[in-house]
Amino acid sequence: MSQTNKSLEALFKPFKSEKLTLANRTVMAPMTRGFSPEGIPGEDVADYYRRRAENGVGLIVTEGTGINHPASVSGARIPLFHGDASLDGWKQVVKDVHQAGGKIVPQLWHVGMTRKKGELPNADALPVGPSGLSLSGEKVTEPMTESEVMAMVEAYAQAAADAKRLGFDGIELHGAHGYLIDQFFWGNTNKRTDRYGGDLVGRTQFAVEVIEACRREVGPDFPIIFRFSQWKMNDFKAKLAETPDELHRFLQPIVEAGVDIFHCSTRRFWEAEFEGSDLNLAGWTKKLTGKPVISVGSVGLDGEFTSFEGANTASLDGLIEKLENEEFDMVAIGRSLLMDPEWVRKVREGRLNDLLPFNKEALQKLY
Ligand SMILES: Cc1cc2nc3c(=O)[nH]c(=O)nc-3n(C[C@H](O)[C@H](O)[C@H](O)COP(=O)(O)O)c2cc1C
Repeated sequence: MSQTNKSLEALFKPFKSEKLTLANRTVMAPMTRGFSPEGIPGEDVADYYRRRAENGVGLIVTEGTGINHPASVSGARIPLFHGDASLDGWKQVVKDVHQAGGKIVPQLWHVGMTRKKGELPNADALPVGPSGLSLSGEKVTEPMTESEVMAMVEAYAQAAADAKRLGFDGIELHGAHGYLIDQFFWGNTNKRTDRYGGDLVGRTQFAVEVIEACRREVGPDFPIIFRFSQWKMNDFKAKLAETPDELHRFLQPIVEAGVDIFHCSTRRFWEAEFEGSDLNLAGWTKKLTGKPVISVGSVGLDGEFTSFEGANTASLDGLIEKLENEEFDMVAIGRSLLMDPEWVRKVREGRLNDLLPFNKEALQKLY
């Protein structure tokens, strides 16, 4: 069971940065749920997010939501971030979360080449990506043309503008896990020889243009969070950066483009990223960029995020220690919060024995 001997103060201190203030250090991790028929988040989805806000989550990052491109998502029940009906749905989500005292950002998403041909919501829309390659390297479609890439940049910018207009507290760009932005980062999926390809720094160009275009739309004071990962959906051992120096070269252009906060996605937050230091990916990112960072990965659980199998609750001591050391500023909680809307409240009240273990049936329901 989840015993902790440590004071939980580090988790419940307010977070203050130039553009974003939060009541505490807890973040709801973005989690695709597939409960938005025709891409429209309804009242049940708004209630689901409101319950997390009511129970004290510092910042909610929504599930990935598709930007305005016909192949941005895989499935008819994934929420979209364009079109009046979907945007009205999101507006209600924001209103409900704010009424409950919470803060919320949408995770702007394009799945790129992970989409299968013929998938809904637009069966005719072919998957698109930097080189038309699947994550395992097979050629599926033609590489995006330069003008298609530039139009895609503008689709992200439009979504950022809409997020601000709807009253969100910022945006998160999904640059992780092998989806579109990450397909540009990764040498296995980006074989381009134009300005969007080349070495690791060259491969950041698409992200840089996306961030700059979003910044242009939202102005200087609106928080832009950037989520990235080393691991890919099909390869948990993949690495964009093998060394701290490579990570630094990778992050620098992204920082200069205008990111405020990094969300460093790992499957187990306690794992050291590089040999010779205990710092995890978030810790290194904070050290190298000086930006606030969110860590994530199996918080409160003894089974890592590899499949959607169940996991038992686990001690928070290791997490608290890293927060106390200021290795990272915030921590995202995924499966624990998916299962238990009261997770943050229970932890704050010291009711660790009441935390619910993650159970894969939770995926079928909006608890
Ligand atoms: C059901 C489910 C859906 C997910 N969907 C997304 C997503 O849309 N975007 C994203 O960046 N990560 C997604 N993730 C990854 C989570 O944000 C998080 O990084 C991962 O679950 C590890 O955290 P945890 O161990 O606390 O669950 C998803 C995870 C789960 C369990």
